[in-house]
Amino acid sequence: MKLTDCYNFHDFRKLAKQRLPSPIFHYIDGAADDEVTYRRNTKSYDDVDLVPNVLAGVENIDLSTTIFGKKIKLPFYCAPTALQRLFHYEGERAVAKAAQKHGTMFGISSLATVSVEEIAEISNTPKMFQFYFHKDRGLNDSMLERAKAAKFDVLALTVDTITGGNRERDLRTGFTSPPKLTPSSLLSFISKPIWTFNYLTKPKFELPHLQDYVGEGTNISISIGEYFSTMLDQTVNWKDAEKLCSKWGGHFALKGIMSVEDAKRAADIGCTGIMLSNHGGRQLDGSRAPFDQLAEIVDAVGDKIDVICEGGIQRGTHILKALSIGAKACSGGRLYLYALAAAGQKGVERALDLYRAELERDMKLMGRTSINQLSRDNLKFR
Ligand code: LAC
Repeated sequence: MKLTDCYNFHDFRKLAKQRLPSPIFHYIDGAADDEVTYRRNTKSYDDVDLVPNVLAGVENIDLSTTIFGKKIKLPFYCAPTALQRLFHYEGERAVAKAAQKHGTMFGISSLATVSVEEIAEISNTPKMFQFYFHKDRGLNDSMLERAKAAKFDVLALTVDTITGGNRERDLRTGFTSPPKLTPSSLLSFISKPIWTFNYLTKPKFELPHLQDYVGEGTNISISIGEYFSTMLDQTVNWKDAEKLCSKWGGHFALKGIMSVEDAKRAADIGCTGIMLSNHGGRQLDGSRAPFDQLAEIVDAVGDKIDVICEGGIQRGTHILKALSIGAKACSGGRLYLYALAAAGQKGVERALDLYRAELERDMKLMGRTSINQLSRDNLKFR
């Protein structure tokens, strides 16, 4: 199988599985406990049907939208995800360049493997820094200052990782950052010689925002669950979020909001957006899917702040449904990560291109030419 054989999410996933050592593949692919929420995130889209209108003159489709005060050409973007150079040696650079090519936004994580400074140099498309609130306040200040100096457009505070999710696949494979050779993982690395060659010969794996403050993740191997549980500050509260928001002084979002109450509170403390997200089902299994919760949240705060629907998106029609409910845009991690693992920048470009083409086709078939024509009239709930 090669990149040109990939026509959808599942194809990219298959190719990524072929190319990645199994602990790394399962780190991306896995979720918490029984992975019920992870599956529901996608399945939830099947409970709503599209009701098309026809004869609408749909030759030209405008997919652009405005989020966080920035116009982007596509109503979806690459959500920040950690450790990208483990998936492909180009890592965040590939995602930054692919997003720029498509005129959309992307995010990088506090646990990114390429620095905010380098990303700022290679990209001028809107970008987001995903902030993890650490116990180490010096580290928090340093990340904030660096993201500000690098002129990132949005700071997104992650609020759904107060402790590590129970990711049993990672426990079984022994996945850590940096990866550790164990008797059981050895075979999986040997069986993927191209990945292993790249990992050993390209610049050393590092977490440039963290490593001057904490050894964990860079020099000390640790699972992501344990990282969240031991390095992040479990006392963090609304006051801290409000302070961070005003210290940042620009567009600020909470990533991982699920309740109406919290969405309202986010608007009250000065957020300009929220990501409705359950962290790809990787944290609290049994929690509700973003799409299931979207209408309530849009009704409560959609006129005040940007509501982004994140998670489970595998098709243009999923994006179309979320936008019809009132999301300003959609985002996701796995929606581009398998493609990154499969083929670096070219892979992400192809994935974004396929979603764009699907969405454009879906808009035509729906009889709509621009995002602001989408509404709940397009939908029928089962
Ligand atoms: C994860 C984090 C790092 O879900 O976003 O693994």
